[in-house]
Amino acid sequence: MGKASKDRRDIFYRLAKEQGWRARSAFKLLQADETFNLLEGLTRAVDLCAAPGGWSQVLSKRMYEPRSEKDREQVKIIAVDMQGMAPIDGVTQLRADITKESTAEEIINFFDGKKAELVVSDGAPDVTGLHDWDAYMQADLLLSALSIATYILEEGGSFMGKVYRAANTSNVYLQLQRFFKDVCLFKPSASRSSSIEAFVVCRQFCMPEGHVPCNLRMEWFDKPEEALKDISGKTERTVVHLPFVAHECEYDADLSYEIDANYIPQEAVQKPLTAAYQEVLEKTKTMSLKYNSYVVYHDEELGIKRYQSISDFKNEKIGACVKPCLVFNGPKWAQTEELRRLRNFFIDMFQREKVESIRLQGVEHVISFTVNDDMSILMRSYKILLKKSGQKTPRIELEEIGPSADFSIRRTKIASEDLYKLARKQPKQLRVTKKKNLSTDALGNTKGRVHLGKQQTGSIQTRRVKALKKSPEEKRADRQKKKVALKAAAVEALSATE
Ligand SMILES: C[S@@+](CC[C@H](N)C(=O)[O-])C[C@H]1O[C@@H](n2cnc3c(N)ncnc32)[C@H](O)[C@@H]1O
Repeated sequence: MGKASKDRRDIFYRLAKEQGWRARSAFKLLQADETFNLLEGLTRAVDLCAAPGGWSQVLSKRMYEPRSEKDREQVKIIAVDMQGMAPIDGVTQLRADITKESTAEEIINFFDGKKAELVVSDGAPDVTGLHDWDAYMQADLLLSALSIATYILEEGGSFMGKVYRAANTSNVYLQLQRFFKDVCLFKPSASRSSSIEAFVVCRQFCMPEGHVPCNLRMEWFDKPEEALKDISGKTERTVVHLPFVAHECEYDADLSYEIDANYIPQEAVQKPLTAAYQEVLEKTKTMSLKYNSYVVYHDEELGIKRYQSISDFKNEKIGACVKPCLVFNGPKWAQTEELRRLRNFFIDMFQREKVESIRLQGVEHVISFTVNDDMSILMRSYKILLKKSGQKTPRIELEEIGPSADFSIRRTKIASEDLYKLARKQPKQLRVTKKKNLSTDALGNTKGRVHLGKQQTGSIQTRRVKALKKSPEEKRADRQKKKVALKAAAVEALSATE
């Protein structure tokens, strides 16, 4: 992608370069200031997660530059980030991790007994693309920023921080409402509508009675009942709705804007001093990061229409190591290739060690999958109860123990037969070649079988054992047999000579 292309697609990126801001995020703080007058008349501020320095530039421009030489002496701005950044007039830099308590101490020392009027944090962890995880990490970083704010903010001070709007963000909102009388959610126009990013703007800091500043992340773990208390003192986890304020301007961050044919893209105002992930980049210089191409051979998406967890079923459960018996109800499982493969998928999922035989008493757990006419799949899990029946075989009863789920098939894309076959091919290394005459018993002992030629048991010299000796009657019968045989041979010889 060329620079001009990015300039066309991201108007705030282009404007940032044209107006001398190091990062397009500078507009987010400018727009917050335009909406809430956050920076008016301030002399002491903390910029957490500040690199490459867009927000610090805004603080400097609004708090430091307009002042006279003498008044500038009162201005104290500290920018904290794990990464280094180029100097900015009037801003002191601290290279540190905001999740550490030592960082809070260093910031306190910087203000030399005074307190800050504003703490801002645009911190963002490395995004993975897994929304829930990213939102969780973001919430964690925001709590660190808020913890620092509780140490350093003066009564009535303000806080602005980045949040990702997701399922657990209500807990973060509760925390903010503990410390600020006025909390709202702000969406600057420089932030894309399609992004889950937003900012909390919190004003009128007020330390709750009895609260001793601490690491709120730890408090959240140690005393959740305290941490999750809402302003009315309730501890129920509720969805917290905050007033929502959006900034509007002539530019829309989600739109592309045409540029002149003879437009020359400008360089970035300030390249990052230490590139993010520099250590990783150094290491990867000597590595080959070429990946083999891969193919998707099974892509099926199941939507969960209804779910009840194990704990919703208040009955006795079975041991974790019990191998379930899987039952696929309904002829549909064998009628379409999609369902046949889905059935294999379920079997693979619950796959355990192979057993050759099993006693009826050994079957304790059944997981059943039923396909309905509307193609929804009902998964149920039962404990097997063997009841007296008055006959040889017991009466079998099923008791539902959970989990229970109704799935809908949202999307299916199965691989061609050839690809499917290829995917199931067992690698040579895993193939078990059966060794002739060798077997392993249940205890893992290897047993061998040795084959000998046919044994002439009649002529084998055995020990003269008394028990094997012939009785006098047997000897007499043998002698008689021999005599008869000799006589017969003599008669035959005589008749041949005549
Ligand atoms: C979106 S950037 C901030 C941009 C900045 N507001 C600006 O206008 O230039 C996010 C920053 O958060 C920093 N960060 C993430 N986790 C941090 C942590 N635990 N301690 C300090 N900085 C952190 C990153 O190093 C990164 O520079």
